[in-house]
Amino acid sequence: MKQSVKMIVGNWKMNGRGEDLSEVLALASALAVQPSEHRVAICPPATLIERLARAAVGGAVEIGGQDCHEAPGGAFTGSISASMLADAGARLVILGHSERRAAFGESDGLVAAKVEAALAAGLEPIICVGETLEQREAGDAVAVVSAQVKGSAPDALKGQAFAVAYEPVWAIGTGLTPTTGQIEEVHRAVRAALIERLGVNDGGAAPILYGGSVKPGNAAEILSADEVGGALVGGASLKAEDFLGIIRAG
Ligand code: PGA
Repeated sequence: MKQSVKMIVGNWKMNGRGEDLSEVLALASALAVQPSEHRVAICPPATLIERLARAAVGGAVEIGGQDCHEAPGGAFTGSISASMLADAGARLVILGHSERRAAFGESDGLVAAKVEAALAAGLEPIICVGETLEQREAGDAVAVVSAQVKGSAPDALKGQAFAVAYEPVWAIGTGLTPTTGQIEEVHRAVRAALIERLGVNDGGAAPILYGGSVKPGNAAEILSADEVGGALVGGASLKAEDFLGIIRAG
């Protein structure tokens, strides 16, 4: 299925301070002059959500978080709940990014609990999945990703807006990207897993983003691939010019 309106989401990871607001302002003003047909979002570190949400207010850039705790509140020192993100101005939240799965031991079950928490707070989750190089080389990419989708997608997603991002771990921050054929193969498997898990109405419509070394130079090819409903962009989302190049390529 080809989706003409794409979802282009920037993941700033642990980058960005007040001085970087200017990048979002530049992005927002470029999109005000020449609007994009696509949905554009930036997920900054939590410390910048409120400032970015204010800076981008009324504009074409939505703001999201990069993670949330699975509980609505309580004694979890250092953590941020989904309703806090929403209160700060976030509309979306990235969940289950491979960096969190690897560095913080997040399991599919925990990601599913975070998805439920995000939905309860009115946030639109972007659920990340992706295989390691070892898993791909063993021929397990499709099986690994399908299992992650089924394990990370709770029933609560039925009737709700959400997205899935396929991000091969070996393509993140490396400059390596899968072939179009490899992307399409996994995206078709993600779609099948979503439909199996949530039914054709809910599983059939959610956009499936591709992430991992998306740049202005490869965005057109990636975004035109079958079942690619957008992009989750790390490094190239930090500068307005690069991010705009990706948005305009879609
Ligand atoms: P990258 O990161 O674009 O820098 O490869 C993508 C991501 O981790 O979301």
